[in-house]
Amino acid sequence: MGKQSLLRVSGLHAALETGEEILRGVDLTIQKGEVHVIMGPNGSGKSTLANTIMGSPVYHVTGGRIQLDGEDITEAAVDARAKKGIFMAFQAPEEIDGITVSDFLKTAKAARQDKPVKFFEFNDQLQNTLDTLQLDAAYAQRYLNVGFSGGEKKKSEILQLLTLNPKLAILDETDSGLDVDAVRVVTDGILRYKNRDNALLIISHSTRLLDELPVDYVHILSHGRFVHTGDRGLIDEISKNGFARFVRAEAR
Ligand SMILES: Nc1ncnc2c1ncn2[C@@H]1O[C@H](COP(=O)(O)OP(=O)(O)O)[C@@H](O)[C@H]1O
Ligand SMILES: [Mg+2]
Repeated sequence: MGKQSLLRVSGLHAALETGEEILRGVDLTIQKGEVHVIMGPNGSGKSTLANTIMGSPVYHVTGGRIQLDGEDITEAAVDARAKKGIFMAFQAPEEIDGITVSDFLKTAKAARQDKPVKFFEFNDQLQNTLDTLQLDAAYAQRYLNVGFSGGEKKKSEILQLLTLNPKLAILDETDSGLDVDAVRVVTDGILRYKNRDNALLIISHSTRLLDELPVDYVHILSHGRFVHTGDRGLIDEISKNGFARFVRAEAR
């Protein structure tokens, strides 16, 4: 038997409810131990690709397939994919009064395993994670997102990553305006998470973040297709020269 890929996306097409096609034939293979970065102009489909891999019902797969560990998950529901080990940070959009960061993490963990979360074990692990990230223990007792800065929201995302320890983590750094503190938490968290048995798919343009990470492949998305794949050298080239060299002039 050949080596089985952790994630294999082949010929993936995805459209909105209206029928408008956003992804137009994406191929992406990720092996255990690898870090892949997706870059591309605004609106090229980066978040759509991440959400479609995660199984968001907003996007309809109209062609191609998605496999995890050799298993076809193209039609699997979001929570089934999460249980199989794909993670995308859930950004709670609203402030949730009465639910602490710790409660939120415990609920997320319970949802991904079929046994209840053991209270003391969970608290020990959380304390450990907070320590390594040099986060104040009081942070976990705050109400989720109530009065949180952008950086503080990012911290709960990284705590989710370390608490759930998925096989494949997808990070969509939508807000490129992360402050220095947030970049440090994200970097430390990712480095702590990363090992030979898992993989990362990161959507980011932040050289401050990417410079610190062991990036293996960089893919450039344009109009719903990868137009170029290279190594980490591409990150600097793009931050200097932009996407013009890679992006087709073709109208959508
Ligand atoms: N839920 C949606 N409703 C309407 N248009 C959408 C939706 N999701 C994505 N799109 C459109 O699809 C294209 C790609 O969006 P997106 O994946 O967010 O791009 P990126 O993350 O690369 O900036 C954009 O033209 C965007 O407007
Ligand atoms: Mg996006």
